[in-house]
Amino acid sequence: MTDDFEAMWADLAPLGRSASTGGYFRQPWHAAEREARAWFAEQAAARGLRLVTDAVGNQVAWWDVPGGSSGRPGDAVLTGSHLDSVLDGGAFDGPLGVVSALAAVDRLRERGVAPTRPLGVSVFVEEEGSRFGLACLGSRLATGEVALEDALARRDRDGTSLEDALAAADLGGGSRDGQAVPGLLDLSGVGCFVELHVEQGRHLVDTDAAVGLASRIWPHGRYRFDVTGRADHAGATRMEDRHDPLLTFSMTALAANKQARLAGQRATFGRLDVAPNATNAIPSRVTGWLDARADSDEALAALVEAITAQAAARAERDGTALSVTPESVSQAVAFDADLTARLGRVGARTGTGAGSGGWPVLPSLAGHDAGILAAAGVPTAMMFVRNPTGVSHAPDERAETADCLTGVEALADVLAELVS
Ligand code: GLV
Ligand code: MN
Ligand code: MN
Repeated sequence: MTDDFEAMWADLAPLGRSASTGGYFRQPWHAAEREARAWFAEQAAARGLRLVTDAVGNQVAWWDVPGGSSGRPGDAVLTGSHLDSVLDGGAFDGPLGVVSALAAVDRLRERGVAPTRPLGVSVFVEEEGSRFGLACLGSRLATGEVALEDALARRDRDGTSLEDALAAADLGGGSRDGQAVPGLLDLSGVGCFVELHVEQGRHLVDTDAAVGLASRIWPHGRYRFDVTGRADHAGATRMEDRHDPLLTFSMTALAANKQARLAGQRATFGRLDVAPNATNAIPSRVTGWLDARADSDEALAALVEAITAQAAARAERDGTALSVTPESVSQAVAFDADLTARLGRVGARTGTGAGSGGWPVLPSLAGHDAGILAAAGVPTAMMFVRNPTGVSHAPDERAETADCLTGVEALADVLAELVS
């Protein structure tokens, strides 16, 4: 039965979709993302899975073992992804892993698999960090990497605190939301996590493979660059008398691009805030957020340092003031070698990889909840499904249904082995 995947996909398709761009706006705890999580609760109920929702809205739908779990720590197998999106994001980043996990549960049941380990399908909130600025907030909270008390005061662009956003989202376990737990998810029973995700680059297209595996995640971080200058009249102020923070920022953006190219790494300013943002006034302040990624922790630090040094030199020339604040930094993560090798053997056996079988193994230049669980000591692996455009975090993100269904079968093969 392949229509379960397509029916789920059709349910999710309109939620948070912009009519003008075709992209998705599913910011955490806002309406579209809450609808998506309510949809997940309905899917869990329809399958008779036991849904647990924690205090921030992380969800796990459990397929319990008859007679109860062995109770051994680390007994459970977890798979899933996220349902939130970046601003104007693609359809697949996150939802593909959730829908594929539910469809894989259906495949296992069709195959008559009787799990001897509990199997959970997870949805972690605020994976993209698009609202409160900290990537993978839900999984960082659930693993204890970030304390809830520290996170509650974070504010979104409108000044709403996380505490108020959670209160407004009413996560208290409504009738559709199953069992609400007072604190955060307890992941101590989780023995391994497998996240299926759309590929966010071109490796699988270029190697002609429908499915791949991740070896590691590049270290990455977000850094806020605040540049303050002196507001003044756009006409009456002589060019040589200005202290224009936008000039300092503009040079910083060019420096980021140059330094990343020179080092073979990645640097992007994708978000900018200019005050007061008036056409006929020199700005008083510019804030830009740098997203930097590199192939080692040392290379990431060196990249950010080089960009900061160029920005500081330019600030001195412009008579502006610069401050740089790291907001969300994730160190390099290697996925579990044994688990990844085990998945690779499934790929070789089932022949759903490139050509004669075997799934290509590639690094991820995007962050994932899988990286947070891996860093917390949970044996973790990731599977990628080919993306024909190679585009991600944008409306042009794609995956062909045939490849998605190959991914579902591949995930079901992996889970069948892990839960048996
Ligand atoms: C998450 O998708 C990221 O920005 O790496
Ligand atoms: Mn994602
Ligand atoms: Mn993403």
